[in-house]
Amino acid sequence: MSGAVLFLNETNRCIVRQSFVYFSIQPPNRKYFVNPTLHILFIGDIIGVPGMEMVSNFLKGLVEKHKIDFVVANGENAADGKGIEENQVKQLFELGVHVITGGNHTFDRWDMKKVYSSFKHLIRPLNFPKDVAGLGYTIYELKSGVKVGVINLQGRTYMQPIEDPFRAVEWALSKVNEQTKITFIDFHAEATAEKMAMGWYLDGRASVVVGTHTHTPTADARILPRGTAYITDVGMTGPYDSVLGMKKEIAIKRFLTQTPHKYETAVNEVRFCGVLAEVEIETGRCVKFEQLIFPSF
Ligand code: FE2
Repeated sequence: MSGAVLFLNETNRCIVRQSFVYFSIQPPNRKYFVNPTLHILFIGDIIGVPGMEMVSNFLKGLVEKHKIDFVVANGENAADGKGIEENQVKQLFELGVHVITGGNHTFDRWDMKKVYSSFKHLIRPLNFPKDVAGLGYTIYELKSGVKVGVINLQGRTYMQPIEDPFRAVEWALSKVNEQTKITFIDFHAEATAEKMAMGWYLDGRASVVVGTHTHTPTADARILPRGTAYITDVGMTGPYDSVLGMKKEIAIKRFLTQTPHKYETAVNEVRFCGVLAEVEIETGRCVKFEQLIFPSF
């Protein structure tokens, strides 16, 4: 059956859709009119105060403009470029982020082990050693009953040695797929080849695979042949008058002298870098995928 339907989204705003499907979502006795696709926004590595301010100023408007149902953000640099603290975790959730992912700086702040154990939707790379605090994947159930699985992985090429992300993701996918076909993956990695290989490895088995960590957006956002959206790196939400978010003068001095200098977060030319994905709820396939960068370069 097809037609127009009026319904409330997550923000209780009325939206008219041109088509709808009627089907049941677990548990089977609950039935909803649900839009056949889910709109997901991912926010690239949020850098310190400038990045947090960008999210604070623009997320609500973006959610309304693009009719976004679900928001994932990489927060591993939210605390002055190194790690994330409890106040930033709470602020991001209050601003409308549903799941926060991490990476190699996840535990740069000493007190974060306790925080990672207390927030189910604050996750760190799955392939960290077994005894590390926190979870590597989570399943978020929206008010509509739709569930989204989010998995965080970290690469091994030019990064510290950890478990194999390719084998680790197999296990997490099987757990997520027991509950939902919609799977979002943040692969926090340095090497383009490793990220690209992961995209192809998961084509047709994940809804979206985004690369993070290099803080520089790549121009290869696309949907692979079996329906998985892929981008090598989303880029950072933070100051671009910098070297990867840090003051450029200090970064240059480090290269010139080959000695350590304390990094400081830059402040100017702040950009929002993210991606928008439209995913079919029944199949988990991505049908539309686009990069979101503002102000433009
Ligand atoms: Fe990183």
